[in-house]
Amino acid sequence: MTLKASQKQNFGQYFTSTSITEFMVNLVMEEFKEENKLDDFKVFNLSLLEPAAGDGAFLETLIEYGFKNITAFEIDKYYYNLLKNKFGNNIKLKNSNFLDSSEEEKYDLFIGNPPYLGQNYASEIFQDYIRKYPICKEFFCGNMDLFYWFLHLGIRKLRPGGLLCYITTNYWI
Ligand SMILES: C[S@@+](CC[C@H](N)C(=O)[O-])C[C@H]1O[C@@H](n2cnc3c(N)ncnc32)[C@H](O)[C@@H]1O
Repeated sequence: MTLKASQKQNFGQYFTSTSITEFMVNLVMEEFKEENKLDDFKVFNLSLLEPAAGDGAFLETLIEYGFKNITAFEIDKYYYNLLKNKFGNNIKLKNSNFLDSSEEEKYDLFIGNPPYLGQNYASEIFQDYIRKYPICKEFFCGNMDLFYWFLHLGIRKLRPGGLLCYITTNYWI
C-alpha cells in the first residue's frame, strides 16, 4: 500500500508484512503456553490490545489464528473506516488516541508496531500531547520518539503475567 508523505509524517505510518506479524504472534503464543502454562483455549481468550492498528496487519493474523478478545486503536479516520469495513464486530475498534486511554483498562497482551515520529520533526504534536496526556508529561525526555510513550503506557496497562511485543528500533533502550 502506498501512503502519502504527509500521512507518514503526521502519524508515523509504516505497515508490517504478514511474515513478521505471524512470527510475532507465534512467539507470544509459545511464551504464554510455556511460561504461563496456558492451553490453546485460554490463549485464544486472552485480552489483546493493538494500540496503532493501521490497515490491520496484526489484526488479520490474530483473527486468523483464533484470538477472540481483541481491542484496537487507530487515530486516522481513513484507516479506522477501512478497519471497520474489514473486521466489523469481530474486534472492539476505537478511533481515538491510544495515549488518551485509561491506565486502569488492563490487557494480557500488547502486540503491534507503534508509530515512529522523532520529536525534532513534530514538535507541535509532542507539545500538544504533553499538555493533554499525563503519561506523555511523565515520560517526556529530550530527543525522544513517539513510540516511547506507547511502550510506557503499554507496560502500565498490562495485567500481571502479561506480555508486550512490539516492533521497535535498535536504539530504544
Ligand atoms: C507504524 S504504523 C503500524 C500499523 C500496523 N500496526 C502495522 O503494523 O502494520 C502506526 C499506526 O499508528 C497510527 N497512530 C499514530 N498515532 C496514533 C495514536 N496516538 N493513537 C492511535 N493510533 C495512532 C497511525 O495512523 C498508523 O496507522
